[in-house]
Amino acid sequence: DVQRSLVLVKPDGVRRGLSGEILRRIEAKGYTLAAVELRDATPEVLAEHYAEHEGKPFYAPLVEFMLSGPVLAVVIEGERCIEGFRSLAGATDPTVAAPGTIRGDLGRDWGLAVQQNLVHGSDAPESAAREIGIWFPGLTA
Ligand code: CMP
Repeated sequence: DVQRSLVLVKPDGVRRGLSGEILRRIEAKGYTLAAVELRDATPEVLAEHYAEHEGKPFYAPLVEFMLSGPVLAVVIEGERCIEGFRSLAGATDPTVAAPGTIRGDLGRDWGLAVQQNLVHGSDAPESAAREIGIWFPGLTA
């Protein structure tokens, strides 16, 4: 199925000037960009986006980190792009993410309370629909 997925270049990626490199990898893979917008997250948007992590020990540092600078909010499109982008991104922990992936090639552990792992990607069609609705209310999954 042709799918859409919500991708975020997190504040660490934007700060380090990796937005272009990350978009390049998405496009080189063959996915298309349906929306791209640099913006500041808000506590309200993050509470919705990270609802499933509320109560976890890294939740407060995660929200603080996501508010530390602009994020690049992106909607990508393509056959099985949800799974495909997860594969491009690599494992959550950048220390063990495989080389060849965004996190494995460009990320590392900085010894902070939250994993600063450069990107977010929706993990399933239901979350893609939910997250695209949060970040781009005018778009549909
Ligand atoms: P993501 O999967 O996009 O959304 C949840 C985020 O929380 C995750 O990326 C990491 O940035 C962070 N995270 C997840 N698990 C941990 C953990 N065990 N310790 C610190 N941060 C985490």
